[in-house]
Amino acid sequence: MASVNENYLKLQGSYLFSTIAKKVKEYETAHPDANIIRLGIGDVTKPLAPAIIDALHNAVDEMAAASTFRGYAPDLGYEFLREKIAKNDYEARGIDISPDEIFVSDGAKSDTSNIQEIFGYDNRVAVCDPVYPVYVDSNVMAGRAGEFDSALGRYKKLIYMPCTKENDFVPEFPKGPVDIIYLCFPNNPTGMTITKERLQDFVDRAIKRKAVILYDSAYEAYISDPSLPHSIYECEGANECAIEFRSFSKNAGFTGLRLGFTVVPKTLKLSGVSLHSLWARRHGTKFNGAPYIVQRAGEAVYSPEGKEQVKKQVEGYMKNASFLKAGLKEAGFTVYGGENAPYIWLSTPGNMTSWDFFDLLLSKVNIVGTPGVGFGPMGEGYFRLTAFNTVENSALAIERIKAAHLM
Ligand SMILES: Cc1ncc(COP(=O)(O)O)c(C=O)c1O
Repeated sequence: MASVNENYLKLQGSYLFSTIAKKVKEYETAHPDANIIRLGIGDVTKPLAPAIIDALHNAVDEMAAASTFRGYAPDLGYEFLREKIAKNDYEARGIDISPDEIFVSDGAKSDTSNIQEIFGYDNRVAVCDPVYPVYVDSNVMAGRAGEFDSALGRYKKLIYMPCTKENDFVPEFPKGPVDIIYLCFPNNPTGMTITKERLQDFVDRAIKRKAVILYDSAYEAYISDPSLPHSIYECEGANECAIEFRSFSKNAGFTGLRLGFTVVPKTLKLSGVSLHSLWARRHGTKFNGAPYIVQRAGEAVYSPEGKEQVKKQVEGYMKNASFLKAGLKEAGFTVYGGENAPYIWLSTPGNMTSWDFFDLLLSKVNIVGTPGVGFGPMGEGYFRLTAFNTVENSALAIERIKAAHLM
């Protein structure tokens, strides 16, 4: 008799966005005239830049002619894209990553959740709290997380690294045994960043402890502070202990197109086994490549016009972020993030839970955000707002929050 993967039955909390959607729908039904401003889900709102649209049109035309039609893409992705990535994202920052250490994919969500397959099932996994839930759930599915402790809101076998205002939302390296460490900077959900010194410290300790860092830098395009690292490979020795994930979703609006990449340095080995060769095998067996037309669109992100256009989009979102942050501060809130990331992380007023604050914001000012506790127990008492909306709506949101005197 067939049976199910019982690890799936241990999954919790994927109710976050569905609970939000349900609450918003109920409110809309009861108040059909309400003009709701959505600052909840981290999806972009600006259309694709003209240089990307042109590349898509050209690639579609190529697919229409026998002489230029393309079938399956090469396993690692087209060289025209991998070369641009290596040159612009790494060589330009003085980092030595070669095109054949880059694996093109359909996005960072797939890669950050699939990467755990190349590690042993008894590996001890550390995640930040609060955390992008994909890292946790993919390890629950694989059986590495153990049972869920509902009193603590945590899985018994995962190692949680608290990110609090006391540590500037940058975790300490786990004190006990650890094998795999997920880090994400600039961070979703806190919008906070890590300095190069702190990241170097993680790298040094990971090498000493023979642990691997899985570094998600999906939001690196939002960094404006020149002292902050865009890549973990800016740290010495990181190519012996780290895998890096990137996405075209947030820097260039590809959330609907789907494109990302993962860097696995050839120097990264565990007990003499190359993780590059394992990931290459996994990629070749289970993935048939990102679409040709999307890879051409990705290439256009690195053209002079493309760079200029996507930079303007990111700047537009970051204007919203600074506007939201300043406005919330003026309204009396304690606010974090929002300077090198499109997320604002605010303390809820008084002792209000993050879900109570969600209800208050929705009912009093018709604004939707994300309760911090949805990202982990240490997110309780916090709330996430995103900069992925129009400048008009960001301004209107602040106007409403100030007028409502929520503090
Ligand atoms: C930290 C982080 N990593 C990865 C992703 C997913 O990126 P992609 O759209 O490339 O799958 C997101 C999306 O919100 C994210 O917040």
